[in-house]
Amino acid sequence: MNTHASAPVTPASPRLLGDTAQGGSVLAFYSPKGSPRPPRIDRGEGVYLWDADGKRYLDATAGAVVANIGHGNPHVLAAMKEQAARVSFAYPRFFESEHNIALADRVCALAGEGFDRAFFISGGSEANESALKLARQYAVVSGQASRWKVISRNPSYHGSTLGALAVTGDAHTQSIYGPMIKSMPKVSAPMSYRIPDGHTQESHAMACAEELARTIEREGPESILAFIIEPIGGLSTGAVVSSSAYFERVRQICDRHGVLLIYDEIMSGAGRTGEFLAAHHWRAARPDMVTLAKGLAAGYTPLGCLLAPNRIVDAVAGQGGFVHGHTYFTNPLSCAVANAVMDEVERLDLVTRARERGESLRRRLEALAERSPLVGDVRGLGLLSAIELVADKATRRALPPAFNAPSKLTAHGLRHGIAMYNRRANLGAFGDFQMITPPLTISESELDELVEKLKRALTDLADEVTRSKLA
Ligand SMILES: Cc1ncc(COP(=O)(O)O)c(C=O)c1O
Repeated sequence: MNTHASAPVTPASPRLLGDTAQGGSVLAFYSPKGSPRPPRIDRGEGVYLWDADGKRYLDATAGAVVANIGHGNPHVLAAMKEQAARVSFAYPRFFESEHNIALADRVCALAGEGFDRAFFISGGSEANESALKLARQYAVVSGQASRWKVISRNPSYHGSTLGALAVTGDAHTQSIYGPMIKSMPKVSAPMSYRIPDGHTQESHAMACAEELARTIEREGPESILAFIIEPIGGLSTGAVVSSSAYFERVRQICDRHGVLLIYDEIMSGAGRTGEFLAAHHWRAARPDMVTLAKGLAAGYTPLGCLLAPNRIVDAVAGQGGFVHGHTYFTNPLSCAVANAVMDEVERLDLVTRARERGESLRRRLEALAERSPLVGDVRGLGLLSAIELVADKATRRALPPAFNAPSKLTAHGLRHGIAMYNRRANLGAFGDFQMITPPLTISESELDELVEKLKRALTDLADEVTRSKLA
């Protein structure tokens, strides 16, 4: 007899995650025993989410910087329903799909010169895996098989699969998964708030670029395949923006050594920074490949994308084709949804809105920083913004990493009706950041509400810092 089959299903939810013997919540994989359960999501509309008790939250980070067009968009839901009713899955090696062709043309046109082909997969990590593997296969088919090392920056985040982790600059994840990963060279990411003594932000960034040149020389230029960077940092640096001079110098160095330059725009792409690609802010330094995800299908379905030039794709296709793929790559439902999302981005002129509302948000955050003892810095571009939390603004001293200020801020925020995503990079060793990245559809009055609720959460956090005698 199968005893498992007759086990009763308990409808009542236990109050503590640690009490769920069989799990049942994804958070059972994350939360220490005894952690309070988070609110249970019920629905979303515009910039708001509601939990099962009817409490409303302003989605201040668009989830994980995903919901660019807000929640419950009726045009996208209609497109999703229509495509699902026609066909939701057809394997792309047997069948082309109209929405895949249209989306590829559209994304390449938006990305502009140098981006001729788009390869769709299910998310950011898969997009970066695809970029690294296409780069490698291109080297092999073009007589440069000695090239395999991918240089990346520290700190950085490029995803959670093992290939993406190999290029992620995070000592904590390396300490766990390092032995399973091929070690890849790292160079310093230019930071903007806490920079080495004797440097300006600019001289520090240029020193980081020279570190790339030295690393290529030291490792042997003939062994270097690519350099991958987040052009504007996500949670790894808290939205650090570098100058045009830095990107141009990096491009020069890569060109000199035949190294491919890859921009990970999983977070910064699809319009969030006020251009379709963050790369468009520094047009003199175009990357060879770009990866996108999050905002492309804006959370309605999983989708990632690799953009590459003809010269790379054709060389690989001409020698047997890309040795890489996933079951759900290029799936018609996600492509139809992303086309509908891009329709909304155009109809509502959300790339311009991201630029304008981003400036307006940062003005408000700077005013908030003047009054809050904890906000040491405000930075970002478009609606990819972050604040840096500190113990002492005068000295820029960070809060102790063990205090985990961002997770405490998230908890205070939820109480005040604001949802803020946080994933701690490097266990806080480079500082504590809170991304502020609402949907691009956010109105001025909703921005007021966001900043007011953030202020209340910061006040509660400041009280906690004082009580813990950390300030
Ligand atoms: C810059 C960057 N790269 C890659 C990823 C990984 O994307 P995914 O979680 O969709 O695999 C993320 C996700 O946060 C990201 O921010």
